[in-house]
Amino acid sequence: MSRRLLIIEDDPGLQKQMKWCFDGIDISLADKRDAALAELRRLDPQVVTLDLGLPPDPGGASEGFALLKTILELRPRTKVIVITGREEREHAARAIGMGACDFYQKPLDADTLNFVVNRAFRLDELEQENRRLSRHDASPLAGIIATSPEMLATCQYVEKIAGADITTLILGETGTGKEVIARAIHGLSDRAQAPFVAINCAAIPENLLESELFGYEKGAFTGANRQKQGKVEAATGGTLFLDEIGDMPVALQSKMLRFLQERVIERVGGHDSIPVDVRVICATHQDLGDMIGQGSFREDLYYRIAEMVIELPPLRDRQGDAVVLANAFVGQFSEQLKKNVKGLADDAVSAINCYRWPGNVREMENRLKRAVLMADGPYITASDLQLSDAPDQQAKPEALNLRQVREKAESQAIRQALLLSGNNVAAAARSLGVTRPTLYSMMEKYGLKGH
Ligand SMILES: Nc1ncnc2c1ncn2[C@@H]1O[C@H](COP(=O)(O)OP(=O)(O)OP(=O)(O)O)[C@@H](O)[C@H]1O
Ligand SMILES: [Mg+2]
Repeated sequence: MSRRLLIIEDDPGLQKQMKWCFDGIDISLADKRDAALAELRRLDPQVVTLDLGLPPDPGGASEGFALLKTILELRPRTKVIVITGREEREHAARAIGMGACDFYQKPLDADTLNFVVNRAFRLDELEQENRRLSRHDASPLAGIIATSPEMLATCQYVEKIAGADITTLILGETGTGKEVIARAIHGLSDRAQAPFVAINCAAIPENLLESELFGYEKGAFTGANRQKQGKVEAATGGTLFLDEIGDMPVALQSKMLRFLQERVIERVGGHDSIPVDVRVICATHQDLGDMIGQGSFREDLYYRIAEMVIELPPLRDRQGDAVVLANAFVGQFSEQLKKNVKGLADDAVSAINCYRWPGNVREMENRLKRAVLMADGPYITASDLQLSDAPDQQAKPEALNLRQVREKAESQAIRQALLLSGNNVAAAARSLGVTRPTLYSMMEKYGLKGH
Protein backbone atom coordinates (compact mmCIF):
# COMPACT_ATOMS: atom_id res chain seq x y z
CA MET A 1 0.00 0.00 0.00
CA SER A 2 1.28 3.44 -0.83
CA ARG A 3 2.49 5.80 1.87
CA ARG A 4 0.37 8.94 1.94
CA LEU A 5 1.24 12.10 3.84
CA LEU A 6 -0.84 15.21 4.40
CA ILE A 7 1.10 18.35 5.27
CA ILE A 8 -0.96 21.02 7.01
CA GLU A 9 1.05 24.25 6.99
CA ASP A 10 -0.03 27.82 6.29
CA ASP A 11 3.38 29.29 5.41
CA PRO A 12 3.92 28.89 1.63
CA GLY A 13 7.73 28.91 2.04
CA LEU A 14 7.67 26.08 4.58
CA GLN A 15 5.11 24.18 2.50
CA LYS A 16 7.49 24.15 -0.43
CA GLN A 17 10.44 23.19 1.71
CA MET A 18 8.59 20.28 3.29
CA LYS A 19 7.22 19.05 0.01
CA TRP A 20 10.74 18.25 -1.22
CA CYS A 21 11.83 16.49 1.95
CA PHE A 22 10.36 13.09 1.24
CA ASP A 23 10.99 10.30 -1.26
CA GLY A 24 8.44 7.71 -2.35
CA ILE A 25 5.56 9.27 -0.46
CA ASP A 26 2.31 10.65 -1.95
CA ILE A 27 2.06 14.15 -0.59
CA SER A 28 -0.82 16.52 -0.34
CA LEU A 29 -0.78 20.08 1.05
CA ALA A 30 -3.36 22.10 2.95
CA ASP A 31 -3.10 25.54 4.49
CA LYS A 32 -6.23 25.68 6.62
CA ARG A 33 -8.93 23.65 8.32
CA ASP A 34 -11.43 23.15 5.47
CA ALA A 35 -8.79 22.27 2.93
CA ALA A 36 -7.14 19.91 5.42
CA LEU A 37 -10.37 18.02 6.13
CA ALA A 38 -11.17 17.75 2.42
CA GLU A 39 -7.69 16.29 1.77
CA LEU A 40 -8.02 13.97 4.75
CA ARG A 41 -11.14 12.47 3.22
CA ARG A 42 -9.78 12.33 -0.31
CA LEU A 43 -6.25 11.06 0.32
CA ASP A 44 -6.91 9.03 3.49
CA PRO A 45 -3.30 9.59 4.63
CA GLN A 46 -1.66 7.32 7.18
CA VAL A 47 0.43 10.24 8.47
CA VAL A 48 -0.34 13.95 8.90
CA THR A 49 2.02 16.76 9.90
CA LEU A 50 0.10 19.53 11.58
CA ASP A 51 1.40 23.04 12.18
CA LEU A 52 -0.38 24.22 15.32
CA GLY A 53 -0.34 27.89 14.33
CA LEU A 54 -3.04 28.04 11.65
CA PRO A 55 -5.33 30.89 10.59
CA PRO A 56 -7.38 32.49 12.06
CA ASP A 57 -4.94 32.06 14.99
CA PRO A 58 -1.50 31.83 13.32
CA GLY A 59 0.28 33.21 16.38
CA GLY A 60 -1.47 30.87 18.86
CA ALA A 61 -2.44 27.22 18.75
CA SER A 62 -6.23 27.15 19.24
CA GLU A 63 -7.04 26.33 15.62
CA GLY A 64 -4.30 23.68 15.51
CA PHE A 65 -5.62 21.92 18.59
CA ALA A 66 -9.21 22.05 17.34
CA LEU A 67 -8.11 20.52 14.04
CA LEU A 68 -6.09 17.82 15.80
CA LYS A 69 -9.20 16.83 17.74
CA THR A 70 -11.33 16.67 14.58
CA ILE A 71 -8.77 14.63 12.65
CA LEU A 72 -8.54 12.06 15.43
CA GLU A 73 -12.31 11.86 15.64
CA LEU A 74 -12.67 11.34 11.91
CA ARG A 75 -9.70 9.00 11.45
CA PRO A 76 -8.60 7.74 14.88
CA ARG A 77 -5.73 5.67 13.50
CA THR A 78 -4.06 8.59 11.71
CA LYS A 79 -0.54 9.24 12.95
CA VAL A 80 -0.46 12.99 13.54
CA ILE A 81 2.92 14.69 14.02
CA VAL A 82 2.43 18.10 15.56
CA ILE A 83 4.81 20.86 14.50
CA THR A 84 5.36 23.56 17.09
CA GLY A 85 7.25 26.83 17.28
CA ARG A 86 10.49 27.22 19.19
CA GLU A 87 9.09 28.11 22.58
CA GLU A 88 6.09 25.82 22.72
CA ARG A 89 7.12 22.68 24.55
CA GLU A 90 3.94 22.65 26.65
CA HIS A 91 1.93 22.56 23.43
CA ALA A 92 3.77 19.43 22.40
CA ALA A 93 2.89 17.68 25.64
CA ARG A 94 -0.75 18.67 25.35
CA ALA A 95 -0.93 17.44 21.75
CA ILE A 96 0.53 14.04 22.68
CA GLY A 97 -2.01 13.82 25.50
CA MET A 98 -4.77 14.37 22.96
CA GLY A 99 -3.54 11.48 20.82
CA ALA A 100 -0.91 12.95 18.48
CA CYS A 101 1.78 10.36 17.83
CA ASP A 102 4.83 12.64 17.86
CA PHE A 103 5.94 16.27 17.74
CA TYR A 104 8.58 18.24 15.93
CA GLN A 105 9.97 21.57 16.92
CA LYS A 106 10.83 24.21 14.35
CA PRO A 107 13.16 25.17 12.69
CA LEU A 108 12.81 22.48 10.04
CA ASP A 109 15.65 20.16 9.26
CA ALA A 110 15.04 17.82 6.34
CA ASP A 111 16.87 14.77 7.75
CA THR A 112 15.27 14.89 11.17
CA LEU A 113 11.82 15.51 9.74
CA ASN A 114 12.30 12.60 7.35
CA PHE A 115 13.25 10.38 10.23
CA VAL A 116 10.22 11.38 12.32
CA VAL A 117 7.78 10.95 9.43
CA ASN A 118 9.20 7.59 8.37
CA ARG A 119 9.02 6.35 11.93
CA ALA A 120 5.29 7.26 12.01
CA PHE A 121 4.68 5.33 8.76
CA ARG A 122 6.56 2.35 10.17
CA LEU A 123 4.47 2.46 13.34
CA ASP A 124 1.28 2.52 11.31
CA GLU A 125 2.47 -0.42 9.20
CA LEU A 126 3.36 -2.45 12.29
CA GLU A 127 -0.05 -1.76 13.80
CA GLN A 128 -1.76 -2.87 10.61
CA GLU A 129 0.32 -6.02 10.47
CA ASN A 130 -0.56 -6.75 14.09
CA ARG A 131 -4.24 -6.37 13.41
CA ARG A 132 -3.93 -8.65 10.41
CA LEU A 133 -2.02 -11.30 12.38
CA SER A 134 -4.37 -11.25 15.33
CA ARG A 135 -7.29 -11.72 12.97
CA HIS A 136 -5.50 -14.52 11.17
CA ASP A 137 -4.59 -16.36 14.37
CA ALA A 138 -8.19 -16.97 15.27
CA SER A 139 -9.26 -17.79 11.72
CA PRO A 140 -8.95 -21.47 10.88
CA LEU A 141 -10.92 -21.00 7.61
CA ALA A 142 -11.80 -18.00 5.47
CA GLY A 143 -14.59 -16.01 7.11
CA ILE A 144 -14.55 -18.09 10.28
CA ILE A 145 -13.27 -16.96 13.64
CA ALA A 146 -12.84 -19.70 16.19
CA THR A 147 -10.38 -21.10 18.72
CA SER A 148 -12.57 -23.61 20.55
CA PRO A 149 -11.74 -27.30 20.14
CA GLU A 150 -15.33 -27.85 18.99
CA MET A 151 -15.03 -25.46 16.05
CA LEU A 152 -11.42 -26.34 15.22
CA ALA A 153 -12.49 -29.97 14.84
CA THR A 154 -15.37 -28.84 12.61
CA CYS A 155 -13.04 -26.78 10.45
CA GLN A 156 -10.65 -29.70 10.05
CA TYR A 157 -13.56 -31.83 8.96
CA VAL A 158 -14.61 -29.18 6.45
CA GLU A 159 -11.10 -29.13 4.98
CA LYS A 160 -11.21 -32.89 4.60
CA ILE A 161 -14.51 -33.12 2.81
CA ALA A 162 -14.24 -29.95 0.71
CA GLY A 163 -12.30 -31.59 -2.09
CA ALA A 164 -14.81 -34.41 -2.60
CA ASP A 165 -18.13 -33.88 -4.36
CA ILE A 166 -20.14 -35.10 -1.40
CA THR A 167 -23.62 -33.78 -0.74
CA THR A 168 -23.39 -32.19 2.68
CA LEU A 169 -26.01 -31.24 5.23
CA ILE A 170 -25.16 -28.48 7.70
CA LEU A 171 -27.18 -28.39 10.91
CA GLY A 172 -27.22 -25.72 13.57
CA GLU A 173 -29.29 -23.12 15.37
CA THR A 174 -29.97 -19.80 13.73
CA GLY A 175 -26.86 -17.64 13.34
CA THR A 176 -24.31 -20.40 13.99
CA GLY A 177 -22.61 -19.84 10.64
CA LYS A 178 -24.16 -22.45 8.36
CA GLU A 179 -23.84 -20.27 5.29
CA VAL A 180 -20.26 -19.25 6.15
CA ILE A 181 -19.33 -22.93 6.36
CA ALA A 182 -21.06 -23.67 3.05
CA ARG A 183 -19.09 -20.87 1.41
CA ALA A 184 -15.87 -22.13 2.99
CA ILE A 185 -16.48 -25.60 1.53
CA HIS A 186 -17.06 -24.09 -1.89
CA GLY A 187 -13.98 -21.88 -1.57
CA LEU A 188 -11.75 -24.85 -0.71
CA SER A 189 -13.11 -27.06 -3.49
CA ASP A 190 -12.12 -27.39 -7.14
CA ARG A 191 -15.31 -25.49 -7.91
CA ALA A 192 -14.13 -22.29 -6.20
CA GLN A 193 -13.88 -20.37 -9.48
CA ALA A 194 -17.42 -21.29 -10.53
CA PRO A 195 -20.52 -19.71 -8.93
CA PHE A 196 -21.82 -20.30 -5.41
CA VAL A 197 -25.59 -19.92 -5.68
CA ALA A 198 -27.70 -19.74 -2.53
CA ILE A 199 -31.45 -20.13 -2.35
CA ASN A 200 -33.48 -19.84 0.82
CA CYS A 201 -36.38 -22.28 0.61
CA ALA A 202 -38.17 -20.55 3.49
CA ALA A 203 -38.10 -17.11 1.91
CA ILE A 204 -39.75 -17.97 -1.40
CA PRO A 205 -43.50 -18.63 -1.70
CA GLU A 206 -44.29 -22.29 -2.29
CA ASN A 207 -45.74 -21.77 -5.76
CA LEU A 208 -42.66 -19.90 -6.99
CA LEU A 209 -39.99 -22.12 -5.50
CA GLU A 210 -40.05 -24.74 -8.25
CA SER A 211 -39.52 -22.22 -11.05
CA GLU A 212 -36.87 -20.41 -8.98
CA LEU A 213 -34.99 -23.67 -8.62
CA PHE A 214 -35.48 -25.28 -12.00
CA GLY A 215 -36.39 -22.34 -14.26
CA TYR A 216 -39.25 -22.29 -16.74
CA GLU A 217 -39.99 -22.38 -20.46
CA LYS A 218 -41.70 -19.60 -22.34
CA GLY A 219 -45.47 -19.94 -21.90
CA ALA A 220 -45.21 -22.26 -18.88
CA PHE A 221 -47.66 -20.03 -17.02
CA THR A 222 -49.25 -16.61 -17.38
CA GLY A 223 -46.50 -14.05 -17.33
CA ALA A 224 -43.80 -16.46 -18.54
CA ASN A 225 -42.94 -14.40 -21.61
CA ARG A 226 -39.58 -15.92 -22.13
CA GLN A 227 -37.48 -18.85 -21.04
CA LYS A 228 -35.73 -18.45 -17.70
CA GLN A 229 -32.89 -20.33 -16.10
CA GLY A 230 -33.30 -21.54 -12.53
CA LYS A 231 -30.83 -21.41 -9.64
CA VAL A 232 -29.73 -25.00 -10.16
CA GLU A 233 -28.59 -24.28 -13.71
CA ALA A 234 -27.09 -20.95 -12.62
CA ALA A 235 -24.80 -22.91 -10.32
CA THR A 236 -23.44 -25.06 -13.16
CA GLY A 237 -19.89 -26.11 -12.40
CA GLY A 238 -20.14 -24.63 -8.91
CA THR A 239 -22.10 -25.12 -5.71
CA LEU A 240 -25.82 -24.87 -4.99
CA PHE A 241 -26.65 -23.95 -1.40
CA LEU A 242 -30.18 -24.93 -0.40
CA ASP A 243 -30.80 -22.99 2.79
CA GLU A 244 -33.69 -24.00 5.09
CA ILE A 245 -34.21 -27.26 3.21
CA GLY A 246 -36.66 -28.26 5.96
CA ASP A 247 -39.07 -25.68 4.55
CA MET A 248 -39.19 -27.25 1.11
CA PRO A 249 -42.77 -28.35 0.30
CA VAL A 250 -43.19 -32.12 0.12
CA ALA A 251 -44.25 -32.05 -3.55
CA LEU A 252 -41.03 -30.31 -4.47
CA GLN A 253 -38.99 -32.65 -2.29
CA SER A 254 -39.66 -35.50 -4.74
CA LYS A 255 -38.46 -33.36 -7.66
CA MET A 256 -35.35 -32.50 -5.69
CA LEU A 257 -34.79 -36.16 -4.99
CA ARG A 258 -35.00 -36.98 -8.66
CA PHE A 259 -32.50 -34.24 -9.44
CA LEU A 260 -30.06 -35.52 -6.80
CA GLN A 261 -30.36 -39.09 -8.07
CA GLU A 262 -30.16 -38.45 -11.79
CA ARG A 263 -28.47 -35.05 -11.93
CA VAL A 264 -30.89 -33.79 -14.55
CA ILE A 265 -33.55 -31.11 -14.30
CA GLU A 266 -36.69 -30.24 -16.20
CA ARG A 267 -37.70 -26.61 -16.46
CA VAL A 268 -41.30 -25.84 -15.50
CA GLY A 269 -43.41 -26.28 -18.65
CA GLY A 270 -40.55 -28.09 -20.40
CA HIS A 271 -40.08 -31.71 -21.48
CA ASP A 272 -36.35 -32.00 -21.95
CA SER A 273 -34.08 -33.41 -19.30
CA ILE A 274 -31.13 -31.08 -18.93
CA PRO A 275 -28.00 -32.49 -17.28
CA VAL A 276 -26.50 -30.18 -14.65
CA ASP A 277 -23.19 -30.55 -12.82
CA VAL A 278 -23.43 -28.94 -9.38
CA ARG A 279 -22.37 -29.79 -5.89
CA VAL A 280 -25.22 -29.51 -3.41
CA ILE A 281 -24.95 -28.28 0.17
CA CYS A 282 -28.10 -28.03 2.32
CA ALA A 283 -28.71 -26.40 5.66
CA THR A 284 -31.47 -26.23 8.20
CA HIS A 285 -32.09 -25.27 11.82
CA GLN A 286 -35.01 -27.73 12.01
CA ASP A 287 -34.94 -31.28 13.34
CA LEU A 288 -35.31 -33.29 10.14
CA GLY A 289 -35.60 -36.52 12.13
CA ASP A 290 -38.76 -35.18 13.79
CA MET A 291 -40.07 -33.98 10.46
CA ILE A 292 -39.54 -37.40 8.92
CA GLY A 293 -41.53 -38.89 11.82
CA GLN A 294 -44.35 -36.45 11.14
CA GLY A 295 -44.28 -37.10 7.42
CA SER A 296 -43.28 -33.57 6.45
CA PHE A 297 -39.81 -34.51 5.22
CA ARG A 298 -39.01 -37.42 2.92
CA GLU A 299 -36.71 -39.96 4.46
CA ASP A 300 -35.19 -40.94 1.09
CA LEU A 301 -34.38 -37.28 0.40
CA TYR A 302 -32.77 -37.02 3.83
CA TYR A 303 -30.36 -39.84 3.02
CA ARG A 304 -29.49 -38.21 -0.30
CA ILE A 305 -28.65 -34.82 1.16
CA ALA A 306 -26.96 -36.16 4.29
CA GLU A 307 -24.05 -38.05 2.75
CA MET A 308 -22.02 -35.96 5.19
CA VAL A 309 -23.46 -34.07 8.14
CA ILE A 310 -21.83 -31.11 9.85
CA GLU A 311 -23.37 -30.08 13.15
CA LEU A 312 -22.45 -26.58 14.19
CA PRO A 313 -22.54 -26.19 17.95
CA PRO A 314 -24.40 -23.20 19.38
CA LEU A 315 -22.08 -20.37 20.41
CA ARG A 316 -22.67 -21.02 24.14
CA ASP A 317 -21.10 -24.49 23.72
CA ARG A 318 -17.93 -23.24 22.03
CA GLN A 319 -15.37 -22.87 24.79
CA GLY A 320 -13.81 -19.43 24.74
CA ASP A 321 -15.12 -18.48 21.30
CA ALA A 322 -17.60 -15.83 22.46
CA VAL A 323 -14.89 -13.48 23.73
CA VAL A 324 -12.58 -14.21 20.79
CA LEU A 325 -15.40 -13.37 18.38
CA ALA A 326 -16.38 -10.29 20.35
CA ASN A 327 -12.82 -8.99 20.21
CA ALA A 328 -12.58 -9.66 16.50
CA PHE A 329 -15.86 -7.85 15.88
CA VAL A 330 -14.70 -4.87 17.96
CA GLY A 331 -11.60 -4.60 15.76
CA GLN A 332 -13.57 -5.01 12.56
CA PHE A 333 -16.34 -2.54 13.39
CA SER A 334 -14.02 -0.04 15.00
CA GLU A 335 -12.15 0.13 11.70
CA GLN A 336 -15.27 0.04 9.53
CA LEU A 337 -17.10 2.72 11.52
CA LYS A 338 -13.93 4.78 12.00
CA LYS A 339 -14.14 4.65 15.77
CA ASN A 340 -11.23 4.30 18.12
CA VAL A 341 -12.56 1.44 20.25
CA LYS A 342 -9.68 -0.72 21.43
CA GLY A 343 -11.33 -3.66 23.15
CA LEU A 344 -13.62 -5.01 25.85
CA ALA A 345 -13.76 -3.85 29.46
CA ASP A 346 -13.60 -6.61 32.10
CA ASP A 347 -17.29 -6.36 32.93
CA ALA A 348 -18.13 -6.77 29.23
CA VAL A 349 -16.07 -9.97 29.08
CA SER A 350 -18.01 -11.42 32.04
CA ALA A 351 -21.32 -10.37 30.55
CA ILE A 352 -20.43 -12.03 27.25
CA ASN A 353 -19.42 -15.26 28.99
CA CYS A 354 -22.62 -15.44 31.03
CA TYR A 355 -25.05 -14.69 28.24
CA ARG A 356 -26.80 -17.52 26.37
CA TRP A 357 -26.52 -16.03 22.86
CA PRO A 358 -29.79 -17.43 21.50
CA GLY A 359 -29.10 -15.73 18.15
CA ASN A 360 -25.51 -17.07 18.16
CA VAL A 361 -22.82 -15.39 16.05
CA ARG A 362 -25.29 -13.22 14.15
CA GLU A 363 -26.60 -11.77 17.41
CA MET A 364 -23.02 -11.24 18.60
CA GLU A 365 -22.18 -9.42 15.38
CA ASN A 366 -25.23 -7.13 15.63
CA ARG A 367 -24.76 -6.35 19.31
CA LEU A 368 -21.10 -5.50 18.92
CA LYS A 369 -21.72 -3.35 15.92
CA ARG A 370 -24.23 -1.33 17.94
CA ALA A 371 -21.95 -1.23 20.98
CA VAL A 372 -18.98 0.04 18.94
CA LEU A 373 -21.19 2.68 17.37
CA MET A 374 -22.52 3.83 20.75
CA ALA A 375 -19.30 3.54 22.78
CA ASP A 376 -17.99 6.80 24.22
CA GLY A 377 -14.68 5.53 25.56
CA PRO A 378 -11.94 3.29 24.18
CA TYR A 379 -13.42 0.14 25.79
CA ILE A 380 -16.82 -1.49 25.36
CA THR A 381 -18.55 -1.86 28.72
CA ALA A 382 -21.20 -4.35 29.80
CA SER A 383 -23.84 -1.65 29.61
CA ASP A 384 -22.89 -0.84 25.98
CA LEU A 385 -23.79 -4.46 25.18
CA GLN A 386 -27.25 -4.31 26.79
CA LEU A 387 -27.23 -8.00 27.62
CA SER A 388 -28.89 -7.63 31.01
CA ASP A 389 -32.49 -7.91 29.71
CA ALA A 390 -32.10 -11.56 28.91
CA PRO A 391 -29.60 -13.11 31.31
CA ASP A 392 -28.62 -16.71 30.91
CA GLN A 393 -30.64 -18.43 33.59
CA GLN A 394 -28.96 -21.76 32.95
CA ALA A 395 -25.43 -20.46 33.15
CA LYS A 396 -25.97 -18.83 36.53
CA PRO A 397 -23.93 -20.76 39.08
CA GLU A 398 -26.65 -20.56 41.74
CA ALA A 399 -28.96 -22.54 39.45
CA LEU A 400 -26.61 -25.52 39.76
CA ASN A 401 -25.48 -27.48 42.76
CA LEU A 402 -21.87 -28.56 43.15
CA ARG A 403 -22.45 -32.02 41.75
CA GLN A 404 -24.02 -30.59 38.59
CA VAL A 405 -21.15 -28.13 38.17
CA ARG A 406 -18.62 -30.94 38.50
CA GLU A 407 -20.43 -33.21 36.09
CA LYS A 408 -20.77 -30.46 33.52
CA ALA A 409 -17.05 -29.67 33.70
CA GLU A 410 -16.16 -33.35 33.64
CA SER A 411 -18.22 -34.17 30.59
CA GLN A 412 -16.90 -31.09 28.80
CA ALA A 413 -13.27 -32.03 29.51
CA ILE A 414 -13.85 -35.58 28.33
CA ARG A 415 -15.60 -34.43 25.17
CA GLN A 416 -12.70 -32.08 24.42
CA ALA A 417 -10.06 -34.77 25.04
CA LEU A 418 -11.91 -37.14 22.73
CA LEU A 419 -12.19 -34.50 20.04
CA LEU A 420 -8.49 -33.65 20.24
CA SER A 421 -7.44 -37.29 20.13
CA GLY A 422 -9.71 -38.05 17.19
CA ASN A 423 -11.91 -40.22 19.46
CA ASN A 424 -8.98 -42.37 20.51
CA VAL A 425 -9.88 -43.48 24.04
CA ALA A 426 -6.38 -44.55 25.06
CA ALA A 427 -4.89 -41.19 24.04
CA ALA A 428 -7.75 -39.25 25.64
CA ALA A 429 -7.32 -41.18 28.90
CA ARG A 430 -3.60 -40.37 28.93
CA SER A 431 -4.24 -36.67 28.38
CA LEU A 432 -6.83 -36.63 31.17
CA GLY A 433 -4.59 -38.53 33.58
CA VAL A 434 -7.05 -41.39 34.17
CA THR A 435 -6.98 -45.06 33.26
CA ARG A 436 -8.78 -46.38 30.23
CA PRO A 437 -11.43 -48.28 32.21
CA THR A 438 -12.15 -45.15 34.27
CA LEU A 439 -12.57 -43.12 31.11
CA TYR A 440 -14.83 -45.78 29.60
CA SER A 441 -17.10 -45.75 32.62
CA MET A 442 -17.25 -41.95 32.58
CA MET A 443 -18.02 -41.95 28.87
CA GLU A 444 -20.83 -44.35 29.53
CA LYS A 445 -22.15 -42.12 32.28
CA TYR A 446 -22.20 -39.10 29.95
CA GLY A 447 -23.31 -40.98 26.87
CA LEU A 448 -20.10 -40.30 24.88
CA LYS A 449 -18.62 -42.51 22.18
CA GLY A 450 -15.05 -43.29 21.20
CA HIS A 451 -13.02 -46.14 19.78
N1 LIG B 1 -17.27 -18.40 13.17
C1 LIG B 1 -17.61 -17.21 12.65
N2 LIG B 1 -16.70 -16.23 12.56
C2 LIG B 1 -17.02 -15.03 12.07
N3 LIG B 1 -18.23 -14.69 11.64
C3 LIG B 1 -19.19 -15.61 11.69
C4 LIG B 1 -18.93 -16.92 12.20
N4 LIG B 1 -20.08 -17.62 12.14
C5 LIG B 1 -21.02 -16.79 11.64
N5 LIG B 1 -20.48 -15.58 11.36
C6 LIG B 1 -21.22 -14.41 10.87
O1 LIG B 1 -22.49 -14.43 11.51
C7 LIG B 1 -23.53 -14.15 10.62
C8 LIG B 1 -24.48 -15.32 10.54
O2 LIG B 1 -23.86 -16.40 9.88
P1 LIG B 1 -24.65 -17.33 8.85
O3 LIG B 1 -25.54 -16.51 7.98
O4 LIG B 1 -23.68 -18.22 8.18
O5 LIG B 1 -25.53 -18.14 9.89
P2 LIG B 1 -26.68 -19.21 9.60
O6 LIG B 1 -26.38 -20.37 10.47
O7 LIG B 1 -26.79 -19.43 8.15
O8 LIG B 1 -27.93 -18.46 10.19
P3 LIG B 1 -29.51 -18.67 9.81
O9 LIG B 1 -29.89 -20.01 10.33
O10 LIG B 1 -30.15 -17.58 10.59
O11 LIG B 1 -29.60 -18.53 8.34
C9 LIG B 1 -22.88 -13.81 9.30
O12 LIG B 1 -22.73 -12.43 9.19
C10 LIG B 1 -21.53 -14.49 9.39
O13 LIG B 1 -20.58 -13.81 8.63
MG1 LIG C 1 -28.35 -18.89 6.88
